[in-house]
Amino acid sequence: MPLKTRIERAVSTAISQAQGGAAPPKLANALDYAVNPGGARIRPTICLSVALACGDDQPALSDAAATAIELIHCASLVHDDMPCFDNADTRRGKPSVHKAHGEALALLTGDSLIIASFEVLVREAASDPGRAIELMRILGDSTGMPNGICAGQGWESEDKIDLSAYHRAKTGALFVAATRMGAAAAGHESGPWTELGARIGEAFQVADDLRDALYDEATLGKPIHQDEINGRPNAVSELGVRGAIRRLEDILSGAIASIPSCPGEAMLADMVRKTAERLTPVMPPVQAAE
Ligand code: IPE
Ligand code: IPE
Ligand code: MG
Ligand code: MG
Repeated sequence: MPLKTRIERAVSTAISQAQGGAAPPKLANALDYAVNPGGARIRPTICLSVALACGDDQPALSDAAATAIELIHCASLVHDDMPCFDNADTRRGKPSVHKAHGEALALLTGDSLIIASFEVLVREAASDPGRAIELMRILGDSTGMPNGICAGQGWESEDKIDLSAYHRAKTGALFVAATRMGAAAAGHESGPWTELGARIGEAFQVADDLRDALYDEATLGKPIHQDEINGRPNAVSELGVRGAIRRLEDILSGAIASIPSCPGEAMLADMVRKTAERLTPVMPPVQAAE
């Protein structure tokens, strides 16, 4: 089954579970609105690719890991767009959740998706409690304090922000979770997979900063120049356009070398190359803009 089908199926099942029973209808609708249609689903794709490279001997657990990561990611976008953070009116080419459903439901949508992501793992825990607990531990690390998404968003309230620590926590942590959880779901030790996730994650945020500075809203499906408007530290303001591109290339060049040895190493190298290609279309308009 193609990865995309596995991901969409598992994510839809998780959302249906959260909407079941006596769920309040407006919040139930907002959950679906926040998750579907999805964006690139890059994190669950990486997670499943690593699981497959490691043998994918418990596919239901791998699907649960991929889904949990995507639900947390969607939650982080809902909260990130709210007026108290980036105050963004659009996301994935449509009104952001607080614009379409109001702030109270947006806050609850993010909260519900975070809880749902852990519940997805709990539901699969009976098949292999040891692996499931490890998956929850990694997901918690990448989501909360001191090193996860909460920490990343928390840095925005500090007077001095270290760009690299900020990027690692707000974006890198979930990519590290994607590679580590893919390995852990398939029963492999997850530690050796940290560097690959960290490299893809950092490259991803540098590419996002370049797009924010240089692209248009219609292409991105979300507002542009957000980093400048909100005074966020970003790769373009710190390194310049050319410096940010060089940084992106440096990070990605080490990614393939960092893949731990595993049965699907060659397949995974291909996935990393494709991910790098997806991040590099920023190049032509960047050069035109200089
Ligand atoms: C956007 O992530 C937020 C960042 C960390 C830069 P994505 O670009 O993966 O968002 P979707 O899921 O594809 O919309
Ligand atoms: C988003 O960072 C990171 C999280 C949602 C945790 P940004 O604020 O840079 O991402 P976009 O540009 O809104 O997608
Ligand atoms: Mg933000
Ligand atoms: Mg934002």
